[in-house]
Amino acid sequence: MTNPFRLREELEHAQLENQTLKDELNRLRAEKKELEADYLSLFSTLQKYERLVQSTTMLIEMAVDPDQDFNKIILDTAFELIPEADYGSISIIKDEDWLFVYAAGHNLEALKSIPFKKSYFLDPRDVDSTLFFDSNVFVVPEAWSIQNMPEEVYRRYREAVLPVRESAVVQIDLANQIAGHLSLDIGTHEEKHFSKESLKVMEALGSITSAFFAFQRLSKLQEEFQREIILSIIRIVEIHDTYTKGHSEHVASISLDLAKEMGLSAEVCRQVYWSGLVHDIGKILVSQSVLNKPDRLSDSEFEMIKNHPVWGYEVLTHSKELREIAIFVRHHHERYDGNGYPDRLAGEGIPMISRILTVADSWDAMIRDRAYRKGLSREVAIDEIKRNVGLQFDPNVAKAFMRLCAKGAL
Ligand SMILES: [Fe+2]
Repeated sequence: MTNPFRLREELEHAQLENQTLKDELNRLRAEKKELEADYLSLFSTLQKYERLVQSTTMLIEMAVDPDQDFNKIILDTAFELIPEADYGSISIIKDEDWLFVYAAGHNLEALKSIPFKKSYFLDPRDVDSTLFFDSNVFVVPEAWSIQNMPEEVYRRYREAVLPVRESAVVQIDLANQIAGHLSLDIGTHEEKHFSKESLKVMEALGSITSAFFAFQRLSKLQEEFQREIILSIIRIVEIHDTYTKGHSEHVASISLDLAKEMGLSAEVCRQVYWSGLVHDIGKILVSQSVLNKPDRLSDSEFEMIKNHPVWGYEVLTHSKELREIAIFVRHHHERYDGNGYPDRLAGEGIPMISRILTVADSWDAMIRDRAYRKGLSREVAIDEIKRNVGLQFDPNVAKAFMRLCAKGAL
């Protein structure tokens, strides 16, 4: 007969083993869950970084396109990658001033109109309650930086911004100096905080913004350098042709005003300005005695002068940087009615930039004093432009010109 005690013992032992197995199973289940959670979080992090890389590539491409608003793109990217953020802003430091250049949630127009000084904003490092994340990223409590504001500025500031409980701030560096701030905010109505992962993303966005600022500065310097070289050449043309003194720069600036008034893109405005600067560069090939002749020109002399747009065009097509605007220079003496030169193009067949140059060039030529006659008065010159709308001038460009005159901009 089986010993009942032994049976009981075996049963208890089996129950115990069963419990151990159950515990083990539960432990494994929990571990599996944990692993799954880890995997999901890793996957979401991976996805975020993938998006960050995509955004970075996109931002770099956009950085070279002046028509894209980099500040908007960087803040939109920040909102996409950092879900805790409710509002945000980008501000830059210029000499002693502090300028808000972009904001989401807060009132950007109001912020732009307030004369903030750099000294009104404390360095987050000097605020006791600041939490450091890394050398450039800070989490700061509400109203962290505004203790230094004069009362009136502070009042306007409070009106312009939504109430904030916590901000994550990353400093934008340029040439080892703080050039601005990218700030993301959590509203007072929210209980959340910025996660470590979000602050890491913030750090990356700060680096992208710093790189963009450096890139912008470099391309500005490069453009300034090119402008100086071109101006030196223009000054040689001006020595050659005394009448053009200052004319090229005037035409460039009037043309730029016209292009802006017509709502043309930043890239087209840039081309307009450069075309204006070099539009008469072909005159260097016209003999000085013809250019500076105070008397009426003979037919053959006039034919020689009429070559300058084509000569300018040919010179510019040899320049890698200026090739794209050569065609606008070629056509700056075409007329809207088709009676101009060199190719007798008409209406919309003339490139838009050339049609803008024509108005600016004629205006400056009319009001400018010459060796043998005084320039026309503004009123007479304006009438002359009006009289030639549809003949010499594009009606749309002439309209923009009249609007500028009415505003007193010319
Ligand atoms: Fe010309």
